[in-house]
Amino acid sequence: MSRIKIFDTTLRDGEQSPGVNLNQLEKLEIAKQLERFGVDRMEAGFPASSKGDFNAVKAIADTIKGTSVTALARTVKSDVDTAWEALKGADKPCLHLFLATSPIHMTYKLKQTPEQVINTAVEMVSYAKQKFAEIEWSAEDASRSDWDFLAQIIERVIDAGATVINLPDTVGYTTPLEYGNMFKFIKETVPNIDRVSLSCHCHNDLGMAVANSIAAVENGATQVEGTINGIGERAGNASLEEIAVALKVRSDFYPFTTNLKLDEIKRTSDLVAKLTGMYVQANKAVIGKNAFAHESGIHQDGVLKHASTYEIITPEMVGVKSNTLFLGKHSGRHAFKDKVKELGIDLTDEKLKEAFQSFKQLTDHKKEVTDEDLFTILMEVQTDY
Ligand code: KIV
Ligand code: ZN
Repeated sequence: MSRIKIFDTTLRDGEQSPGVNLNQLEKLEIAKQLERFGVDRMEAGFPASSKGDFNAVKAIADTIKGTSVTALARTVKSDVDTAWEALKGADKPCLHLFLATSPIHMTYKLKQTPEQVINTAVEMVSYAKQKFAEIEWSAEDASRSDWDFLAQIIERVIDAGATVINLPDTVGYTTPLEYGNMFKFIKETVPNIDRVSLSCHCHNDLGMAVANSIAAVENGATQVEGTINGIGERAGNASLEEIAVALKVRSDFYPFTTNLKLDEIKRTSDLVAKLTGMYVQANKAVIGKNAFAHESGIHQDGVLKHASTYEIITPEMVGVKSNTLFLGKHSGRHAFKDKVKELGIDLTDEKLKEAFQSFKQLTDHKKEVTDEDLFTILMEVQTDY
């Protein structure tokens, strides 16, 4: 089995979903849960985009110690410098530089010739290397780029110091066969490619982000990028929980493992849904409310006889519990603590005490305290972060 690294970009590409705007505290809570989930690297944000995002990336870099933290930068020196200021407190900081390589982007957006694009990329990777040991370089719109040009620029940025090469399907245009072939071509053509990790990053415009990611892995990608619940620009990014569960359930077919703790999926998905306000559709694969519901009589009969008749994923595998705690005025400190943990929020003993008091006050005039109520309380007690 070969181990595939998981790069989570919920806090950067995921936050680029229309209408989503996470504050520092919310980003930090999600980051802590991503660490519990077992991602190898998390992209905390785009520090040069705003002061708020800079502060959030810095807070994550200073807090998360077991997982590599990365941040996005355009190929301009000021972005690289700002990213370094935000990331320098991280244990394993990584810079994510991107530059478009497709004829469409080079002509209309960058207004640069292919030769100029190579020079810009090499110059910026060399500049960033003075600060960062780990640099991921992304060929934006790789899937609509000329493969020979891709091979040429990749070889040059590796020589300049890139340690990860990412080939994004930026507009969700590719298909599994085509995307897989592109990875195979790059693996076979770029002479120094084995010195770096090779990463895939798929968008879901045609509904193929997960299938495309798996095709990339089958053809040499050693890192998969995606988001929780598949949130992201336009139709979203590849859904990490779907990829992880597909590799697990079909391990008879795919010789790949990840470090993800699958039974943290439900908690991670719920936390992201609540804090982003992007609720998960009922029929979403793996984690939708209907993923384990059986409607037709024939299916219900089959499942009662043996769950494997119609269930290829067990609820326990992804952390879906059959009984959840109900919190009301009779609930004590222990139940409250368990519930906070179930929600994926990490509190100090002191904050937990404060939150418990607010919860008790609420139960004086509310019979059932919902998860939404609890989130409000848990966020409020932490706002002095
Ligand atoms: O989709 C994309 O091309 C991106 C890059 C910044 C990696 O998100
Ligand atoms: Zn993207």
